[in-house]
Amino acid sequence: MNTTSLSPQDNPRRGSLACVGLGMTLGSHLTPLARSHIEQADVVFAALSDGIVELWLKRMHPDVRSLQPYYAEGKSRMKTYREWVELMMTEVRAGKRVCGVFYGHPGIFAWSPRNAIETARAEGFDAHMEPGISAEDCLYADVGIDPGRFGCQHFEASQLLFYERRIDNTGYLVLWQVGLVGDWSLTRFRTGPACRQLLVDVLSQDYPLDHEVIIYRGATLPIEQPRIRRIALRDLPEAVLTPEETVVLPPASPLKPNLAMRAQLEELDKAGAIV
Ligand SMILES: C[S@@+](CC[C@H](N)C(=O)[O-])C[C@H]1O[C@@H](n2cnc3c(N)ncnc32)[C@H](O)[C@@H]1O
Repeated sequence: MNTTSLSPQDNPRRGSLACVGLGMTLGSHLTPLARSHIEQADVVFAALSDGIVELWLKRMHPDVRSLQPYYAEGKSRMKTYREWVELMMTEVRAGKRVCGVFYGHPGIFAWSPRNAIETARAEGFDAHMEPGISAEDCLYADVGIDPGRFGCQHFEASQLLFYERRIDNTGYLVLWQVGLVGDWSLTRFRTGPACRQLLVDVLSQDYPLDHEVIIYRGATLPIEQPRIRRIALRDLPEAVLTPEETVVLPPASPLKPNLAMRAQLEELDKAGAIV
């Protein structure tokens, strides 16, 4: 690591890092605090959903550097994400106030912002994460799900193939990155029906094949409407799926009362021991 001879504490112009979320929809989701981090930065790095969103960000700051060109077909995404961290940290180490702008929430399914913040703090720099409106938030609003009603599990879709996970089909199941499910290599931008069939095989242990699957894409531009498609689980492998879509399985079974625990609560209540 090539740091200056001064420690960050001694450096007259200390670098800092803020990773902020831009939200999902251009123009309407940016919080005043995120905007202020962007405007006060010396340099802004951007990993956004859309070239138009990037142009909009450029109107807020004269030095916006896109992180998108570091992606390449056949190149490991992990290599790209490490490069992003290094790009941001190089400027932080040079004493700059750096702002990393990420679509949605910078801490949700986003490796680089967390890693950059950890790295900056480990080197003694101030680093902060500013939350944003994520795809999850939009999904609750657009699809009409309250996670408090039946509960809600979230998984990166590949984790259901790589690991043995326990699905609770009495709540909602939200699957992220289904468009590239099963990509061991981290080099692909999409995977095909064969991988999604494996996902259906796993899910069919907890859901009937005719169970409803919701394919959701939230609006990223103000002129767009959210796209919500409903198909049967068995049709998921052949469905046309873009990388930015999220898949939801509504509950398949009713909540099962825990009679033993209810009896214990009743006893506590009778004994006046609940409060
Ligand atoms: C790398 S994650 C980034 C998530 C982002 N940080 C956030 O806060 O929403 C990419 C995944 O987010 C979800 N996603 C991204 N854009 C979306 C959109 N417009 N509508 C619905 N889900 C989206 C998809 O599951 C996609 O595979």
